[in-house]
Amino acid sequence: MLVIGIETSCDETAVALVEDGVRVRSNVIGSQVDRHRPYGGVVPEIAARAHLELLLPALDRALVEGGATYDDLDAVAVTAGPGLVGALLVGVAGAKALALAHDLPLIGVNHLEGHLCATQLEFGPLTPPLMGLIVSGGHTSLVLLNADGTFVTVGATLDDAAGEAFDKVARFLGLPYPGGPEIDRLAISGDPAAIAFPRALLHDGTYDFSLSGLKSAVVRELRRREAKGEEIDLADVAASFQEALVEVSVRKTVAAAQAYGVERVTVVGGVAANSRLRAAMADACRVAGLQLLIPSPALCTDNGAMIAAAGWNRLVAGERSPLDLAADPGLGMTPVPAPPAGPA
Ligand code: KG4
Ligand code: ZN
Repeated sequence: MLVIGIETSCDETAVALVEDGVRVRSNVIGSQVDRHRPYGGVVPEIAARAHLELLLPALDRALVEGGATYDDLDAVAVTAGPGLVGALLVGVAGAKALALAHDLPLIGVNHLEGHLCATQLEFGPLTPPLMGLIVSGGHTSLVLLNADGTFVTVGATLDDAAGEAFDKVARFLGLPYPGGPEIDRLAISGDPAAIAFPRALLHDGTYDFSLSGLKSAVVRELRRREAKGEEIDLADVAASFQEALVEVSVRKTVAAAQAYGVERVTVVGGVAANSRLRAAMADACRVAGLQLLIPSPALCTDNGAMIAAAGWNRLVAGERSPLDLAADPGLGMTPVPAPPAGPA
């Protein structure tokens, strides 16, 4: 079964074709990064207008590169939320039009569930139980996929998301947007132990995160050194900040997996592309005897293939969205419905 996945929740206009929820036939990403860079972050109005311009060409390319026509499609999956409302509306309206014109089932997908389902594109269908760390520009949470197929959030950030912390710190360091990949690169030549930044909530016994204090500590340290006229090694600051964020993320994920008796872990979302997080998580999982399923960086950042994969899961579980599906900027995680009963 061939599902087309449409993702427009933030600043990537992404369309992909995925076969049977696991085989990527095409994965087109029309990036808007250059349009937002002058403003140092995503401008919602610019994002929505750019999606309008980029969506139809992305649809055409995804079909051509996937060697398919509209007649070959079995369903249309689209991110219904969470995200920027104007941006989401473009994808949802486009998906509805496709579903109506070609008489295809429409499946509204939660963006975070989509991130988790990127894992199945590389490792095959998700086998529960699984502990997923979602670290993106807008979200940071630990989500448990239960044996009954339901997703449960076991912890989340109380303030900034991991990607937001990366982007804000990068801005203070004078690095261009998006800052995560810039800090990742700069940190390679820095000393992660140069500055002991705080590790908030590391020992609080919860699976929650708090990252705004870390960001403020970086700013305070930069200002203190500036005031004293001390030379600032930006690579050391980047590496030390990244290490603090990574240490908390890794420890909380491993602790959550152990607490819930889960043997498989996945890390998804844009920040899962971070090289230090990937390496540290791999080490910690090896020591703890956990299997780490972490998609390659291109599938960690926003893409349409992850939405098609999540849509396929819901399609085979018998779910369909109505043609009046709403774009919901605050959409929460919803359990995947149980598969329909088989023949008696
Ligand atoms: O999941 P995503 O593509 O979009 C959202 O749903 O938010 O995540 C984007 C976030 C941005 O904050 C970006 O700076 C961060 O992911 N990011 C990274 C890296 N690549 C992207 N953060 C740290 N290291 C990276 N290599
Ligand atoms: Zn995302």
